[in-house]
Amino acid sequence: MKIISKPTSAFNDQKPGTSGLRKKVKVFQQPGYLENFVQSIFDTLKVPAGATLTVGGDGRYYNRPAIQTIIQMAAANGFARVLVGQAGILSTPAASHIIRKYHTYGGMVLSASHNQGGINGDFGIKYNISNGGPAPEKITDDVFAKSKLITHYKIADLPEIDIDHIGETIFDDGKFTVKIIDAVQDYADLMQELFDFTAIKKLLASGFKVQFDAMHAVTGPYAQEIFTNRLGAPITSLMNCVPSEDFNGGHPDPNLTYAEDLVKIMYAGDRAPDFGAASDGDGDRNMILGKNFFVTPSDSLAVLAANATLVPAYATGIAGVARSMPTSGAVDRVAAKLNIPCYETPTGWKFFGNLMDAGKVTLCGEESFGTSSSHVREKDGLWAVLFWLNVLAAKADACGQAQSVEAILMAHWAEFGRNVYSRHDYETIPTDAANSVIQHIKAQFESLPGQTFGSYSVKTCDDFSYLDSIDGSISHNQGIRILFEDGSRIVFRLSGTGTEGATIRIYLEAFEPDSRKHHLDAQVALAEMIQIALLISQLKEKTGRDTPTVIT
Ligand code: G1P
Ligand code: ZN
Repeated sequence: MKIISKPTSAFNDQKPGTSGLRKKVKVFQQPGYLENFVQSIFDTLKVPAGATLTVGGDGRYYNRPAIQTIIQMAAANGFARVLVGQAGILSTPAASHIIRKYHTYGGMVLSASHNQGGINGDFGIKYNISNGGPAPEKITDDVFAKSKLITHYKIADLPEIDIDHIGETIFDDGKFTVKIIDAVQDYADLMQELFDFTAIKKLLASGFKVQFDAMHAVTGPYAQEIFTNRLGAPITSLMNCVPSEDFNGGHPDPNLTYAEDLVKIMYAGDRAPDFGAASDGDGDRNMILGKNFFVTPSDSLAVLAANATLVPAYATGIAGVARSMPTSGAVDRVAAKLNIPCYETPTGWKFFGNLMDAGKVTLCGEESFGTSSSHVREKDGLWAVLFWLNVLAAKADACGQAQSVEAILMAHWAEFGRNVYSRHDYETIPTDAANSVIQHIKAQFESLPGQTFGSYSVKTCDDFSYLDSIDGSISHNQGIRILFEDGSRIVFRLSGTGTEGATIRIYLEAFEPDSRKHHLDAQVALAEMIQIALLISQLKEKTGRDTPTVIT
């Protein structure tokens, strides 16, 4: 094995965003682009002797060539072993699990999550540390700094590795090994340890109908193993389960707009199944639906926290919960009742890792269809689906009759009140226009407090900063909050995962204690607040956009 040091020119745009470096495939295909970023990561890490690297991705276009390059660079940068998911595929939560289970030094997760795939779509790369979670900002900042100064990268002259067959390839008398692993079994085993599969199996056998949509993305093989092979669900309860490099031309984002196949089935009146779910490109997001009913991710987190003791893994209780700042305060109300701490972190999974490692938090989630627990250090789509099924199974009556998802939510809101919630996204806005919206709101920070808009009075406003209580780091500029006297909120943020122009996200939340109003559609209940957000931001005037691209 010969190690070559190749000269390269630095790029100035390799700043990792909310979740790693995401760019158009064509940007990644520029000579040296991927290599520079990977080398900058390795240079930041100071890889110890004997270290193992986990590598895998969501199977999107460019996954395969990227894996070959990463293997060759890992060999040249002192790794002794690389574990690769079969066919180069590892869902993001499965990658996190593999890192933890096999104590690997870290992992490269190749994904652009819910962004579109294919040659004209997006690609992404994220480094996860030994706890299985995304690298914290102190590492990603360092990687960016190194990427701007890089002059050479190191690569070994290895032949192309067959990543489709389980097995091991050994180089240089064992100095470097590549092992292709079946991560589906490891992940399914973990799920079976956490949840009561016997009870879920019984629920599914009782006539309770489930529909799962893998959206042509990574969770297909995992869902087949878990739902069909282990839980006995009929094959018809799974759809779009063969991963494709461009997600069959779709947008692998499990929400009411993009998971339209599933939504149609779940809103088919009486004929609709009892429970529906979907997950995204890399398997870390989830959407939960009942018969003709949508559960917001914020509510889903709250319901799971309130019912955690029904699940074997959390039967003795949960230590605490965490949510990202824009996520609704529904889970805060559950935490208060359970008398456990609730942490508010910036957007992005990387902020949960420290709290979980310190044992302060068991469950956490984001409004962006992300929910998980300390079983891994990533959000976990199938985990959330199984958690819901376990709760539904545990709540079934003596005759095995399950409650509906809607009934569970209504009972939850009756007990805790409802944090009515919605997010409006305005995508592909010219960057200057998006920045001017944000500047316009910030310029009102002094004048807004005390002002009244219809039935809402502004209490305070700020740009959210987070002090990590574990490592003392501070993250500034994490989103603009306008907080009203009655606890309602409007949050404005610019996306950190897009690859085209800017995306403005408006998060709207109003608390409704009155159970007579709990059945209202969120858009109706939030109508006044939506107008206030547009008035304060002057978004329409500054961007020329009349309606959001996506409403969740
Ligand atoms: C989005 C979500 C965020 C999530 C991230 C990765 O980031 O809003 O909650 O952690 O994707 O899935 P954003 O584009 O808002 O920066
Ligand atoms: Zn994802």
